[in-house]
Order: sequence, then C-alpha cells, then structure tokens
Amino acid sequence: MNSFPSLLESIDDLSKIQIEELLTLSTHFLHNKPTPGPPNYLQPVIATSFLENSTRTKHSFAIAIQRLGSIYIDFNAETSSLKKGESLEETFLTLYNQGVDLCIFRSSVSNQLAKFKKSPPIKIINGGDGTNEHPTQALLDLFTLLEFSKELHGKTIAIFGDIIHSRVTHSLLKLLPHFGLKIILCGPKYFMPEFSTISKDIKVTQNRDEAIMASDFLYLLRIQQERHSENQFQNTHSNDYHHDYGIKLSHLKHLNKLIPIFHPGPANIGIELDHELIKSSLYQGYNQVKNSVPVRMAIIKSMLSNNDKNIGIINGEKF
Ligand code: NCD
Repeated sequence: MNSFPSLLESIDDLSKIQIEELLTLSTHFLHNKPTPGPPNYLQPVIATSFLENSTRTKHSFAIAIQRLGSIYIDFNAETSSLKKGESLEETFLTLYNQGVDLCIFRSSVSNQLAKFKKSPPIKIINGGDGTNEHPTQALLDLFTLLEFSKELHGKTIAIFGDIIHSRVTHSLLKLLPHFGLKIILCGPKYFMPEFSTISKDIKVTQNRDEAIMASDFLYLLRIQQERHSENQFQNTHSNDYHHDYGIKLSHLKHLNKLIPIFHPGPANIGIELDHELIKSSLYQGYNQVKNSVPVRMAIIKSMLSNNDKNIGIINGEKF
C-alpha cells in the first residue's frame, strides 16, 4: 500500500483505503484524547500559514496540533519575507531547515501547491486554496455524515448555492462518490459548473424543492463574494437568493423533510438559511466543527508518521 502523502493538496492524493484509515483514526481521537508528555526537543513542530481569513480551519488545526503534543507556530505571512518577494518554495524550505516538520497552508490563490507534489519542500496540508480544493473540510464532512448513516451507499446529498467558487464542493465532488453517495447541485445557473466538467452521476437542478425532496442531507454554501471576479455576479442580490434558494425551517416542515443540514461555515443567516434553521437540531454546523479537531489530528498524525525521507530536497536533487 502507498504510504500517506507528504503533500495533501487534493482528495485525489488519497486512496480509498487511506481515507478509511483516516476515518478509523479520527474515531479513535474523538473518543480518546492523547495525553502528551512533558515538553521535549523531539516534539514535532507544526506551522499554520494562513494567507487568507479563517476562524474554524485555523483554530481547529491549532488545537489538533497541540492535542497531539506538537509544538505549534503560527507563521504570520504579513510580517514574513513572502512580503519581500520571497517565493513560496523558498519560504517552505526555510521553515523546513528551521526544523518545522509540517505546514498547513491556506491561500486565496488556486493551484499553487500541485507543483510541489514530486518533491515537497516540507510536508504540507492544503487548508484551502482559492476556489480549488479544501480536502480536510471534505474529510470532516464525510466523518460527520457517517455519524448519521454508517452506509452512505444509495443516499443523496444536495449541495446548494455558489458551487463554482466553493473549494469545499470541489473536494466533496471527488470524495463522496467513493462512498456511493449521490450528489445533486442546486442553485442559480451562474453558480453551476459547466456540464462538461461534471460527472454523469451528479445531477444539476434549479428547482429547490425537487432537490430537497430527492435528498437525505442538504449541504449549504455561502455566496463567496470575495472569490468572484469584479462585478461577475452583480445580479446576485442576497434577498433574491434567500427567496429562491434559501432554506427555511418552516419550509422543510411544510415539505415534511426534516433532514440534517450541513454547512462548512461561515454561515450567513438570512441568505442561505434562516435563523430558525440554524438554531434547530437539524443544523449540523457545530457538529462539523466539533469533528474537525479529531479528523485533523488523524490527518496530521498520518502525515507525520509516513517516514518520507525525500522532504526538503533543494531543486529536487540530493547533493
Ligand atoms: C470554507 C472555506 O474557507 O472554503 N470554510 C471553511 O473552511 N470552514 C467555506 C467558505 O469560505 O464559505
């Protein structure tokens, strides 16, 4: 079996067996908190480097790192040499040579990490890159879905909203079919991907009720204005969106469809969902947050223990 990758850029970097092992280890960490020993110089050092805002992802990684007994450093890009024009590779190599074992990296730029796949300058976990992927969010979403149903085969999830800008959706579209989950994408046409780029197993609809009625789970997305190009969606008025695609508790009651509602956060009340729904027991956003720590612990632990000796090699060559 392939060892766990040293760069987790995309869901495609993991085999189904590796995903299943991560889920098992996540369950272990959910129920058993490790008791780290006293500080010592052999503790792994892990850095978060977030070049974009974050509440959930960054903090849950910070907690996961410390629960595993690792030393946590928050690499502040704003005050770093990246601001002096240093390349990302040089920055990663610098961290590696200072003794950092792993770096969790987030950026508003898509696809910056793929080039490091052959020869990673440091072990890297993608904490979300532009509109490309957010693999750890998708993995913790899968873990939370499995708490509802051990067997997801034949079940359906409808993902609502700003699909094309959602890196979480891009990772979910790769991950969930491994577990037999059918996917419906629902939202205004201008938020939908090109038909040619989506698989035949994924349905697309503009009809909110049709999507709700065909689903066992709903996954709601924020309208991600900061990822839109200028004036790209000037017609996206949040009131209209709420009217046409927002999910309201009263409406789910009316349809007799009281099913779990997922959201990666941050949620915008009054746009993709209403206040009654977020305060109801259907809303799983806090469960996703709770599960984010054990799942991220499992990902870090698996990457740290992969015994990869080919990290930090300059220009991909040994001298
Ligand atoms: C998501 C992200 O950053 O892509 N949030 C998250 O990581 N919890 C979704 C979003 O920004 O809307």
